[in-house]
Amino acid sequence: MPIEIVQEQDADWWEVEALFDLCFAPGREALSSYRLREGVGAVRTLCHVAREDGILAGAIRFWPVRVGDAAAVLLGPIAVHPTHQGEGLGGALIREGLAAAREAGWARALLVGDAPYYGRFGFRRLEGVVMPPPTNPERVLGVDLCPPGWAGVSGPVRRAKD
Ligand SMILES: CC(C)(COP(=O)(O)OP(=O)(O)OC[C@H]1O[C@@H](n2cnc3c(N)ncnc32)[C@H](O)[C@@H]1OP(=O)(O)O)[C@@H](O)C(=O)NCCC(=O)NCCS
Repeated sequence: MPIEIVQEQDADWWEVEALFDLCFAPGREALSSYRLREGVGAVRTLCHVAREDGILAGAIRFWPVRVGDAAAVLLGPIAVHPTHQGEGLGGALIREGLAAAREAGWARALLVGDAPYYGRFGFRRLEGVVMPPPTNPERVLGVDLCPPGWAGVSGPVRRAKD
């Protein structure tokens, strides 16, 4: 049975939360990136789930944020069930989400993560873009989606509603 990747629906929400709880260390919501998500809805058209025979195998979500005066989309959380890791599913979810973001006209995406993994999707260290503390600046990565991308964009990352 092939794995199907589709847009996340409202009914998927708690199942996806359970997958994130399984895949991340306890207390994931204490991470600084969650401060940017509080009280702000996800960009639902970019959020995707992967299912094999109906069973959730992976999920990716995106949130809107602001960097200086510019809008950007924050990638994450993303997780693949341990029984499916290393099969390319994480990569497929990232490509699907970024393609949807590009199609929707988002100019730039960022995330907090490991450069050796995300580099293969075009993510590079973002100089001068500051996530809420405590965040290791080496892990703040961005990719251009549509012109002008990250050119000339810097400053603290804020909640979309602030
Ligand atoms: C990170 C994660 C989403 C990747 O999904 P995946 O489906 O396993 O990844 P893919 O199959 O697309 O890619 C696998 C490759 O990425 C590498 N990789 C995975 N995580 C990595 C990391 N953190 N740093 C460097 N490389 C990593 C694997 O070694 C493998 O390398 P290879 O292609 O050379 O064999 C998944 O492992 C996961 O859910 N991890 C737990 C939750 C998590 O850490 N989420 C990301 C938070 S930023």
